[in-house]
Amino acid sequence: MRFGSQLEINLSALEKNHQKIKAICKSNEMIFMVKADAYGHGLVPITQFSFHELKIKEFGVASLGEAMTLRAKLPRDQFEIYVFSDVNFRDERLIEVYANQRLIPVISSIDNLKIFLSNSEFRHVPLCLKFNTGMNRLGIEMNELEDVVHHLKMNGRKSIDHLMTHLACASLSIKKNKKNIEQFENFEEVKSSLKTSGISISKTSIANSGAIEQGAGLNESHIRPGLMMYGPSSLIPSIKETSLWTGELISTLKTRILRTRLIERGTPIGYGASACPGSGLVAIMALGYGDGFSTSNQGAELKFRDKNYKVVGRVNMDMTQLLLEGGVLGDINVDDDFTVWSPESENFDELCKRSKMIPYEVFTSLTTRISKNYIQ
Ligand SMILES: Cc1ncc(COP(=O)(O)O)c(C=O)c1O
Repeated sequence: MRFGSQLEINLSALEKNHQKIKAICKSNEMIFMVKADAYGHGLVPITQFSFHELKIKEFGVASLGEAMTLRAKLPRDQFEIYVFSDVNFRDERLIEVYANQRLIPVISSIDNLKIFLSNSEFRHVPLCLKFNTGMNRLGIEMNELEDVVHHLKMNGRKSIDHLMTHLACASLSIKKNKKNIEQFENFEEVKSSLKTSGISISKTSIANSGAIEQGAGLNESHIRPGLMMYGPSSLIPSIKETSLWTGELISTLKTRILRTRLIERGTPIGYGASACPGSGLVAIMALGYGDGFSTSNQGAELKFRDKNYKVVGRVNMDMTQLLLEGGVLGDINVDDDFTVWSPESENFDELCKRSKMIPYEVFTSLTTRISKNYIQ
């Protein structure tokens, strides 16, 4: 039974994607990125399945809040959670949370490193440092390397548990793109400078999905895939054919047809009374921008049962008009399911292309109005 539009999530497909990544990354450990509600697929169920069934033991989230949600739901001592961006050491009480809940803050600034090293609460928390090798978002700067060594030594730390950096252009060629080449070189420099200064490093990582798809960054101990676990490639179309990735979308977005009507080209339709661009059958689906189906999807062509439905007129809050050009009554009926995207169609790619939204954004735009159903 379904009370509205639904995202069906196939956990077996997640398992297959995981196996495919392991086949590419034979000797790497994995931090599975489950931030932003597991890229819109549900933080807790996705992580629970990945932990219990796929035996993944390290997860990456963005904020302390996401990390605490996971700690409350999974066996406490058996897996690591890295907090990547909204680390937040402003408040002493938050610092205690890291220690008490065994969470690993990814330290991306000298200021936070100083707090980490000087605070006794962090004595038993693994030290994870992220360097800015050229993305210029978060990260300790390359010219702060000496400072880092100084502060580590001053505080009696001779080792880093995990050293990482993040790529700005992993969707472009790793071998040819200047920024990628520069970032890989800079990361080598960070590693070797630290080692030369007597700091040992246990784990390292650089590769997100784009790099993994290109077989890059696999000489580090860890990889950090996000998007590819949920199916899509993150490479730009012109280099997609070079990708090693053959993953499958793990989700199917289903909605319902509320009304159908025959229509003549030029007939006003929906808010703003836009002229219908063709004649045929219009079907109103129960999905709109309030569900995360963006207004910029207008014009997208969605394939369903071998027919092309075009998004016409304005996308409404909870409804959208679909035109089946040349369609007749009965081609699709009130109460029929309509599959917006699934692994079997190209609709997901079409929506990304039409809306100019990246797959990450399409997934994470889905709102709580869309229920989730996990199948295996
Ligand atoms: C630091 C870091 N590592 C890894 C990832 C995963 O990236 P992707 O989803 O492209 O694999 C992200 C995602 O934004 C990230 O911020």
